[in-house]
Amino acid sequence: METTGTDGDDINTDPIMHSVNLPWVEKYRPSSLDQLISHTEIINTIQRFINEDRLPHLLLYGPPGTGKTSTIKACAKQLYGKGYKRMVLEVRLVTSGFKLVILDEADAMSNEAQAALRRVIEQYTKHTRFCLICNYVSKISPAVQSRCTRFRFAPLSEDELKSQVQRVIKAENLTVTPEGIDALTRLADGDMRKALNILQVSVFGDLFATSTALAFGDIDARAVYTCTATPQPDDIQSIVSWMLEKPVAEAYKLISEVKTEQGLALQDILKEVHRFMHNIDFPTDCKILLLERFADIEHRLADGATESLQLSDMIATFQRVRELAAHQAER
Ligand SMILES: Nc1ncnc2c1ncn2[C@@H]1O[C@H](COP(=O)(O)OP(=O)(O)OP(=O)(O)O)[C@@H](O)[C@H]1O
Ligand SMILES: [Mg+2]
Repeated sequence: METTGTDGDDINTDPIMHSVNLPWVEKYRPSSLDQLISHTEIINTIQRFINEDRLPHLLLYGPPGTGKTSTIKACAKQLYGKGYKRMVLEVRLVTSGFKLVILDEADAMSNEAQAALRRVIEQYTKHTRFCLICNYVSKISPAVQSRCTRFRFAPLSEDELKSQVQRVIKAENLTVTPEGIDALTRLADGDMRKALNILQVSVFGDLFATSTALAFGDIDARAVYTCTATPQPDDIQSIVSWMLEKPVAEAYKLISEVKTEQGLALQDILKEVHRFMHNIDFPTDCKILLLERFADIEHRLADGATESLQLSDMIATFQRVRELAAHQAER
């Protein structure tokens, strides 16, 4: 997709924000609506509302790092120019009679606060526009929702992530291999904040590891995986083939070794094996069994279960599926 506008250099024109020490997510936060990559329909609609001086109350929702806060900040700058900070109240659970009241993370509001907000929104509509921002729209009461125009910020596509990542790479004078860029946009899962943070951690992590080579080494896929403690695709391939071919005890030993060596969490291994699994040629019922058990294991891990036991379960599940598949092949 084509994006309107500007080069990396003038992404952030705010002098305070131009400092070199800022994390890249802030340093390269779009400062005007036309610098935002993605969600062009939403942004054009909001732009039209502003142009016609008919901005409604807004409810922006969607997963993290998709540009909700950046969008409303850019709107505020456009509405009020340089003095925008005086005209905007960024609040958490407090309201006031300013022109634009931004309630970020509105899904953390209690039911009582939301009930109060219904009346406040109506009372102040003449002089104030409210903009609620949240990740989970289901946590916003229907009455509040119906007072707002809702916009869903979908996860960003890999191409959209790439285009911003490439701007930062250019502006920071970095060398990142195409495979490195692919790896980091894949790991970012539609979250631009995550993409930029992974880029930054890979650059500094790599610097640390190869301090003699200094900043000029290429950042490749391996650096991205290592710096984020994500299992390498090769390792995942080995893990899967051990589970498919080796006896349980041996698979357990081999996987444990990789886990310790690379400092990997079972949750991350599980996630990557799950991605990989879709390419394995198993009968449908075997795949279903695997998926169900994987979901259980993930749930237990999230609950704080012991990794060694859950690892055994993952291997045992593969063993059962192997037997099932072999049995079916015989028939
Ligand atoms: N559409 C976009 N175009 C360019 N950069 C973006 C975009 N979306 C996010 N970013 C980058 O990611 C960072 C985080 O974005 P932002 O704070 O707007 O996310 P958010 O949707 O409000 O996330 P959260 O729900 O976690 O608050 C920004 O500082 C910016 O650098
Ligand atoms: Mg936000």
